[in-house]
Amino acid sequence: MEDNKRPESMERITTEELAKAFIEEQLSTLKAQIGDGRVLLALSGGVDSSVVAALLNRVIGQNLVCIHVNHGLLRKGEPEQVIEVFRNQMKANLIYVDATDRFLDKLAGVSDPEEKRKIIGSEFIDVFQEEAEKQSGIRFLAQGTIYPDILESGTVKSHHNVGGLPEEMHFELVEPVKFLFKDEVRVVGKALGLPDSMVYRQPFPGPGLGVRCPGAITRDRLEAVRESDAILREEFEKNGLAGKVWQYFTVVPDFKSTGVRDGKRSFEWPVIIRAVNTEDAMTATIERIPYELLEHIADRINHEVPGVNRTLYDLSAKPVATIEFE
Ligand code: XMP
Repeated sequence: MEDNKRPESMERITTEELAKAFIEEQLSTLKAQIGDGRVLLALSGGVDSSVVAALLNRVIGQNLVCIHVNHGLLRKGEPEQVIEVFRNQMKANLIYVDATDRFLDKLAGVSDPEEKRKIIGSEFIDVFQEEAEKQSGIRFLAQGTIYPDILESGTVKSHHNVGGLPEEMHFELVEPVKFLFKDEVRVVGKALGLPDSMVYRQPFPGPGLGVRCPGAITRDRLEAVRESDAILREEFEKNGLAGKVWQYFTVVPDFKSTGVRDGKRSFEWPVIIRAVNTEDAMTATIERIPYELLEHIADRINHEVPGVNRTLYDLSAKPVATIEFE
């Protein structure tokens, strides 16, 4: 479709100046499209939806209704950051829905990876729709579609994203960054004043920590994933790896092994660290983390994360492994 083709004359947005020009242009385009209308946006806290939220908040202020659904599978501190940045700092109209119990109850006992993804995706739509119905006079739905999403639509990536909304929600779409590549969205995000931790964050799958808690998710094992991930991220940031490594995370598999804690036998989970580099996520290589740092992270995880007595490092490239565990 011609509508979905990036104009050939469009310059790559590589500098703050170009980003500012893009923002100025969007402000008038969006004003013309939306007028006094009300707009709904599913705000995940990822860079794409965050940039759309910040842009629209400038144009229409309180007529933008952002909905942040916490499915209980977000990383440590993420919902708090969304609330801090958008509600407290930008004064945006943000509805925060803590749907943790709903998601985790539905996921209880479900071990099939595809089934888990399906539940997370459809529950997300239900929660979003319920919140949308509480709003009146909504004419528009904003989405953080970016150009690679359009180019790759029909491939695996497009349908495993959580947040695709059903056709029966008859809204006019507002997609201000649909011609931008990821690096351009980041430059625009910086120019809009979003924090670096949002603008440069590593990819995070829609089903969140759910795919890093293989098999049936339990709340205690999920907490072990969340806490170990927080330690890994903290150490990568402190040691200059956060901006260098493409994706890094922890996984807590569903088995226990013997250990010794406080002079007694323990029977606890292992944590697996994964850190990979890639161009396009189709293939990936392993990051060679310095041994001393690995040991330090393992030591912290083993001592600080309840229920964990071992930390392992994954040396598998993609292929044969995938990046995620499920
Ligand atoms: P795999 O595990 O297939 O992952 O090597 C490739 C990239 O895609 C991300 N990924 C997902 N993203 N929903 C998403 O939005 C998903 O269900 C999903 N599964 C994998 C993964 O994090 C990696 O960056």
